[in-house]
Amino acid sequence: MKVVVNNEDVISQFIADEFIKVVNEKPNAVLGLATGTSPLKVYADMAKANKEGKVSFKNCTTFNLDEYVGLEGTHNQSYRYFMNENLFNHIDIDKKNTNVLLGVGDYKAFMNKYDQMIKDAGGIDIQILGIGSDGHIAFNEPGTPFDSLTHETELTKQTIKDNSRLFNNISEVPTRAITMGLKSIMNARKIVLIATGKNKAKAVYGLIKGPITEDMPCSILQKHHDVTVYVDEDAYSLVK
Ligand code: GLP
Repeated sequence: MKVVVNNEDVISQFIADEFIKVVNEKPNAVLGLATGTSPLKVYADMAKANKEGKVSFKNCTTFNLDEYVGLEGTHNQSYRYFMNENLFNHIDIDKKNTNVLLGVGDYKAFMNKYDQMIKDAGGIDIQILGIGSDGHIAFNEPGTPFDSLTHETELTKQTIKDNSRLFNNISEVPTRAITMGLKSIMNARKIVLIATGKNKAKAVYGLIKGPITEDMPCSILQKHHDVTVYVDEDAYSLVK
């Protein structure tokens, strides 16, 4: 596991550069994408590079990690909406090649074929991850089996509290989600994780130094052969 410590602007640019490199080497690359506040600058940098002609996402396919159960893709807190607003509307990707799990309708049928869809597309070439303050990646909460594939899950009180900042009221935060599993994530060829701020310090410690345990879902990444963790000083503060 490689670790890069720098400020948010710098690590975001580094990660955007990693994506750009993958896509320039393989124009039909399969990209694994995440939501949350952490990747926002990365997506802005990717969009800027696209506008400047340094990369084209025209032939790429994307798969997102997760979605809330109960939110339509048009809801402003759904992850489909987030991706359109923060990345897809600003790059030259063909929207029909962007895959985000469904949270309504026949979402279970879509969930059940998601891992096969990823496989059929050739597998994820590069996956970006954020991290929850309790060490979750995607919505794989503590206790999720390491061999899990895409599944429905219940969010912990901590995650609901953390994510309530984006809703008008904590009672509006969905309590369930669909998420790629830990095994689905581990199947990616290359993984980059971004974490900033003091409230991620404990999870980052578990990620880098902690024992590999299902109580700290991110710790499974220690077993992946190509992971780079990008952190700022605050997120790294317990490790050094
Ligand atoms: C949510 C998402 C995760 C994300 C985490 C951290 O729970 N499902 O994929 O990593 O939030 O979000 P943020 O980057 O906003 O701190």
